[in-house]
Amino acid sequence: MNASSSACTKAALVLDRFYNTPARQGFHWPGRILSGPGVLEAWLKDAPAGLAIVADRAFAAHPLVVAAGGAACVVDGEPTRAGLDPILSDLAARRPSAILALGGGATIDSAKALAAHLRFGSFDIRDRPRDATPPLLIAAPTTAGSGSETSRFFILADASAVKISTRSWSLVPDLTLLDPLLLESLGPAGLLLGAFDAAIHLWETHVARGEASAFTDGIAQAHLPHILAALPGLAAGLKPDAATRQALMEASAMAGVAISNVRTGLIHTLGESLAAQCHLPHPLTLRVFLPAAMASYSAAIAEKTQGLWRMADALAPRPEPWSPETFTAAWTEAFTTSGLDQRIATAFAATPVSLDHLCTTAARDTTLAKENPLPLDANALRLVAAAGLGAWPAPLRDDGMADATRLREVRRIPRP
Ligand SMILES: [Fe+2]
Repeated sequence: MNASSSACTKAALVLDRFYNTPARQGFHWPGRILSGPGVLEAWLKDAPAGLAIVADRAFAAHPLVVAAGGAACVVDGEPTRAGLDPILSDLAARRPSAILALGGGATIDSAKALAAHLRFGSFDIRDRPRDATPPLLIAAPTTAGSGSETSRFFILADASAVKISTRSWSLVPDLTLLDPLLLESLGPAGLLLGAFDAAIHLWETHVARGEASAFTDGIAQAHLPHILAALPGLAAGLKPDAATRQALMEASAMAGVAISNVRTGLIHTLGESLAAQCHLPHPLTLRVFLPAAMASYSAAIAEKTQGLWRMADALAPRPEPWSPETFTAAWTEAFTTSGLDQRIATAFAATPVSLDHLCTTAARDTTLAKENPLPLDANALRLVAAAGLGAWPAPLRDDGMADATRLREVRRIPRP
């Protein structure tokens, strides 16, 4: 490696590891987005030769996948190394110039992992800078929520079923096609769960104490109100119109950009820790902790979120103005009326959760202490976790019931 390429690599690595501080703020995103009805079909008319399609099983019979014939690889569920090995062998033999991922977050994660291995010879490519090695990666999401269609992350389970998150700007899809026609077949539960995940991505990047910047604040203020405007219809199980579907897809995609620049916070840390103990979809693990997290820091973010609530009042008016309290109440009502809360209660009844285990897992997130809107020590983290779990019937093993009623102590922590 000569001196100039070494310097380039070094600069790329600095960029890959870059996160904001209050004194030094930046924004990076190396992808492109096309959004509108029919953008996928239009793009396919000029698609590069040697295109491979990685499609969700639910889209295996989609006309575009059928038309691709032998160029389509069908995946199902969250990716594992063992599950991807045969597809990787197939693709390595075909050497595609580009991979089109057609599916939800797990399908796009599968395509990212495959593209990573084809480019770098390994799934373990944390912070490896991108060169010109093919294949290109194109994401056409069929859900709206995970943000994988634009983010610099993928999650892949290893041989022990442990989910490993890999981060690199080189994994951001080269092109993201947001086609609301692809969201037509997604049912009301999938739409609501996805909208909530994207909303929490936008929320947590907006209230991060040190990493939030004007760049990502603009993303939250522009897109979170559109999700809130769609919320009543989603909660009622109504089929959204094309403009609403497009707004939800754009919100999810831009939330994927936001979480690539600013790390998620308390709700995601506790939700992901809960997922290690019980089988719930990712957005439902977030729902468990939204009220307790919001109550713990709402006073600290009142000034910061005024602009967001003004935009929400304009785009998604409701009888009471938007605030941390009405935000929490609106989502709580949506999960209750849609019946999704019952899935959480059923999961907890089947497998009571250990608060000790949950807090031990969550405490590994060393970013949280400095990014939470209020300083967060182990005691405060435990109280928020206990309050979140304590809102559900019999969710806990007997190691945390006394903590579940003490959330008010968190609010006594002085502001920085
Ligand atoms: Fe998420």
